[in-house]
Amino acid sequence: MTNSNKKVRTLNSCSSTSNVEHRTSNSSSPTSNLPLRALVTGGAGFIGSNIVRRLLEQGSQPVVLDDLSSGYKENLLPEAKFVKGDVRDRETTEKAMAGCGVVFHLAASVGNKRSIDDPLTDAGINVLGTLNVLEAARQHGVMRIVFSSSAGIFGELKTLPIAEDHPQDPDSPYGASKLAAEKMCLVYNKLYGMRNVCLRYFNVYGLNQRYDAYGNVIPIFANRILKDESLTIYGDGGQTRDFVNVADVAAANIAAAFSPAARGVFNIGSGTRVTINELARLIQEAAGMEVGKEFAPPRPGDVRDSLADIRAAQKAFAFAPQTDLKDGLVEYMEWIKQDPLSGSMFEVRGSRLKKR
Ligand SMILES: NC(=O)c1ccc[n+]([C@@H]2O[C@H](COP(=O)([O-])OP(=O)(O)OC[C@H]3O[C@@H](n4cnc5c(N)ncnc54)[C@H](O)[C@@H]3O)[C@@H](O)[C@H]2O)c1
Repeated sequence: MTNSNKKVRTLNSCSSTSNVEHRTSNSSSPTSNLPLRALVTGGAGFIGSNIVRRLLEQGSQPVVLDDLSSGYKENLLPEAKFVKGDVRDRETTEKAMAGCGVVFHLAASVGNKRSIDDPLTDAGINVLGTLNVLEAARQHGVMRIVFSSSAGIFGELKTLPIAEDHPQDPDSPYGASKLAAEKMCLVYNKLYGMRNVCLRYFNVYGLNQRYDAYGNVIPIFANRILKDESLTIYGDGGQTRDFVNVADVAAANIAAAFSPAARGVFNIGSGTRVTINELARLIQEAAGMEVGKEFAPPRPGDVRDSLADIRAAQKAFAFAPQTDLKDGLVEYMEWIKQDPLSGSMFEVRGSRLKKR
């Protein structure tokens, strides 16, 4: 179910509700108003580091604020200024933000399990940390924050495809803290005339995503393949997910940031879905290796199907995912095979891996 018209980059480039505001951008070139300096909180992480790389490619000067709690110094690029610090710390956040025209706010305690284990830390970073970023922005006259939200705010899925006004009933403290942070961003739009944008990501995958990525299926499958172990599929494998490549997520962030009139909340997915059985086939094909699969009982709480309705983002800031899943998986497997940090997480069975 992937879209074969989409493209992959080279390896080195690495219906609304009352609280949903959508404005259509008339800008034909969303990046034409690129502020020189942009703060990326969480810029040492998986998605943040891809945004930093793209900002540099487009001539902006990113500043990274990250405490390296789940990010990696290896993801930092020397061309971007790095401030090691916590988004909950007001002074550090204000210092990092000085001179910036826009903030990409990704720093977060990420994942449902982590939030169930430690809901106070989750809320401290995701809610109070976001408020701290909003307050710092207000002080510095930064009028736009692009906030990384999650499809986890929806909870149990009731309709497909999932539009922005789908009921929001999170199943974890993480989903609840992301929803609270979204609402704060929208309140600042109302109170202070800010133009904050919240992007709700579906299943993001791609370069710089390592096996430790809180239970994401693609790094787990990649890890199993590289250890020459069969893939475990929970349930019958007919469940579907919307996998969106991180390059498309980075592009969405930048397009949203620089589309003058875009505001509110937007779904960011590929707009296509694939079964887990099909994903297992595609990723083994991408690795050039067959490890087989085994089935385990379905996990309680797993949704059957997921698919983002991305029309609002298409309309507001011309979001158009470019990466076909098949190509993105080839790129990802090439990357993870040679990533030194991932290499230390498994014993690569080099002899069985097809060289491309
Ligand atoms: N990966 C996905 O599929 C996905 C899906 C939905 C939403 N998101 C959201 O996207 C954002 C980025 O996620 P990711 O997958 O890149 O995760 P990640 O863990 O790789 O990145 C998060 C970054 O934030 C940093 N960080 C954490 N707490 C911090 C703090 N208190 N102060 C400063 N820095 C801090 C970490 O060190 C890390 O570099 C998060 O906000 C996450 O909730 C991700």
